[in-house]
Amino acid sequence: MHYAKMHQMVHPARYELSSSALAAAPVSEWPFVPTLDLQGHEPYGDVRAVEMLAVRYGVSVESVFPTPGTTVANLLAVGVLARGRPVAVELPGYEPIRSMVAATGARVRDLPRRHDWSIDLGEVEQVFRDGAGLLVVSDLYNPAGTTLAIDVLQRLDALARQHDAWVLVDEVYLDGLPHRRPPAAALGERLVSTAGLSKVYGLGGLRYGWLLAAPSVIEMAGGLADSLYAIMATPVENLALQVLEHLDWFKARYHRILGANRPIMEAWLDRHPERFCIRPPGGLIYFVGIDEPSETFDRRLRQEHETGMAPGHFFGDEGFIRIGIGGPSEILQAGLERIAAAC
Ligand SMILES: Cc1ncc(COP(=O)(O)O)c(C=O)c1O
Repeated sequence: MHYAKMHQMVHPARYELSSSALAAAPVSEWPFVPTLDLQGHEPYGDVRAVEMLAVRYGVSVESVFPTPGTTVANLLAVGVLARGRPVAVELPGYEPIRSMVAATGARVRDLPRRHDWSIDLGEVEQVFRDGAGLLVVSDLYNPAGTTLAIDVLQRLDALARQHDAWVLVDEVYLDGLPHRRPPAAALGERLVSTAGLSKVYGLGGLRYGWLLAAPSVIEMAGGLADSLYAIMATPVENLALQVLEHLDWFKARYHRILGANRPIMEAWLDRHPERFCIRPPGGLIYFVGIDEPSETFDRRLRQEHETGMAPGHFFGDEGFIRIGIGGPSEILQAGLERIAAAC
């Protein structure tokens, strides 16, 4: 995370492709003039936002809990669902989840993703048999952008029920699919979803996310949130409500940018069949194989080619780089050419 902050915010490369988010839309381009109201604190999230999220994701209002970003939704879910048992976390994976789980004091167990990035249900059964009380996965999968089929999610739910366990599915990228897919939480009682406005909607600076889960889990998460912070920041809730009211505009912008950038990325992969890549069905990130350790490749790429990406070692796989395609098309095009030259 420190590395990402330094390279995305402090000294980005000229062609920086390390971000996994859509570039933020300037407020001047938004389809409404945002207003701020510092009144109207609500104890557990603005009820209008809760209602909108419930309708959009096909769950009851009792199953929605707004949070300061997906990160905090993940923390709340882990905090209430680990229950003193080990927590299995996918590998390769988004490192901050792993370190957050460890920071809660839970023992972390690896759940290796297969080479095509699918989940081995036999392995899941084994980690549950070995005592894990919670499995954490991402969908779309960070770093590779692949997705889990509905029947796989249902099988995960069945395994969790069988072993009195839970599955947390981080869905911060899920809305980036070309088609709508119900959140995991709508597909099984032991599945819990987290998501937010940071990636597909390009609003990471707003720090707004949510947890979707069975009402009993939401109630426990509310109890834990009470000991972490009193209320959400009111300006964040105000702005998030207005964004949610116009979410289709933000979504259309995502599709417009990706409509330009995905063909650039796909054409590059077509020209470089020697680069291993499981092509994701949608989303903002591609995980591409390289022939040298990602750490040295990263240094060389930045120093000699003015280009940045997220090296695979941050996700637990040295043989890959993660390329983000949510920025300006010309930067993507130029960055990809330089990556090819450096390979
Ligand atoms: C899988 C995953 N979850 C959560 C986050 C952070 O989300 P937020 O900014 O909403 O806290 C990221 C950011 O890279 C991520 O990749």
